[in-house]
Amino acid sequence: MTGSDEFHNLEVPRLSSTEARPSGGTKPTFPSDFLWGAATSAYQIEGAAGEGGRSRSIWDVFSRIPGNVLDGTNGDVATDHYRRFRDDVALMARMGLGAYRFSVSWPRVQPEGRGHANPEGLDFYRRLVDTLLDHGIEPWPTLYHWDLPQQLEAAGGWPERDTAKRFADYVMLVHEAIGDRVRSWTTVNEPWCSAFLGYASGDHAPGRTEPAASVRAAHHLLLGHGLAVRRLRDAGAGRVGIILNLYPVSAASTSAADTDAARRVDGLHNRLFLDPVLRGRYPPDVVTDLAPVSTFDHVRGEDLPVIATPQDMLGINYYTRHTVAAPNGEGSARHGTREDRPPPYPGSEGVRLVRGSGSCTAMGWEIDASGLVDVLRRLHSDYPPVPLYVTENGAAFHDTEPHNGLVRDPERIDYLDAHLRACHAAITEGVRLRGYFVWSLLDNFEWSWGYTRRFGMVYVDYPTQRRIPKQSAHWYAGVIRHNGLPATEAH
Ligand code: FCB
Repeated sequence: MTGSDEFHNLEVPRLSSTEARPSGGTKPTFPSDFLWGAATSAYQIEGAAGEGGRSRSIWDVFSRIPGNVLDGTNGDVATDHYRRFRDDVALMARMGLGAYRFSVSWPRVQPEGRGHANPEGLDFYRRLVDTLLDHGIEPWPTLYHWDLPQQLEAAGGWPERDTAKRFADYVMLVHEAIGDRVRSWTTVNEPWCSAFLGYASGDHAPGRTEPAASVRAAHHLLLGHGLAVRRLRDAGAGRVGIILNLYPVSAASTSAADTDAARRVDGLHNRLFLDPVLRGRYPPDVVTDLAPVSTFDHVRGEDLPVIATPQDMLGINYYTRHTVAAPNGEGSARHGTREDRPPPYPGSEGVRLVRGSGSCTAMGWEIDASGLVDVLRRLHSDYPPVPLYVTENGAAFHDTEPHNGLVRDPERIDYLDAHLRACHAAITEGVRLRGYFVWSLLDNFEWSWGYTRRFGMVYVDYPTQRRIPKQSAHWYAGVIRHNGLPATEAH
């Protein structure tokens, strides 16, 4: 069977009746230059943790501490992509991907986090980029997807200003190696997660629970981004941007207390990152909310202009929306029987994230494609214009085991279909959305959830490392081929 046959002949499942959308025969078509991609990250797929001169990252250390990862696993082997990358790229080509977003492992490229580069590490990314280009797939490297070299954490990690400078130096090593072949660069992936899950709630590496340090970490991640943008520009890089995880935040009721809770959470999740990057200032209300833990004296006068260095694009990772309530607020009482939980960061004490009424993915994240339109619309109307890319969107479901070489994942297809319709609606309204990347190409190591959650369009049988495209992979290949979605169906 030739590759293209593999993706042309498979019957694509109909939308499931549970998520059926209104009929009407609409067949959304995307702009002819719309970029279709898929995303992964180094620690989640590469494996080969002790090979090729790679040193330890904070995730190698964190995942070994009992209790930190749900199934007690780590990324030592992951999907063995370090050795299997050629096959994986061939699979991407058969799906018809226009771009592949991967991340560069800092401890593989610069094992000590400073000083000399590791030639073997750089060679791996050279070969990966060349293989992608040979298959007509645009490489989209992300320069930091959470795997800080452990030696830099030992020196203080992201709460230290020096880490931002170290990041910019490391970025230049990567640029020297692959800058002649890479046009689109993304700097830091989801600084919110690195700062608050890493240094406040301790759910992610390095697992610290130090609220003041988490606010400093957030700033230095943004500063690292800004320094990297400037250095990359000076070196002639094509396009550069940051990737933020954004959520629409709504109050659980119209009460003043719940409305203020929503303002706080929106501030900490969205505006604390968007405003410095796109407006060159921290939002004053968020600085006030954080006053009990931080005086912001780590912010130097010259930092904000650096962070706000104009970028060529903004990456948005979207998974769900948040509904929030104040402690004892009306919304809190209304949702009281649900599993409410506090947000994992300082400045929002007592505020509860409450479960909405929609269905959830296997992560417990509420499915709400309209939230993606809200996020895109807000960026379009409230912030200076910048081309947008959805750099992650996707879902974990409890996929069935492969049966006769097939993995049926209709829920994932429904999820992707609904979110792509949201993208199309936003484009129709005039939003400058230029591309979309599914999270994820492959099942992989899902951080503190280990291998218990599968996000891939391609099933990975971990004991054999066999790749089996799920039906969603076949479906997505069809979307790419037609540059659009199937017509909605009546049920
Ligand atoms: C995002 C991360 C990505 C993956 C997805 C599910 O926050 O960037 O690595 O874990 O969530």
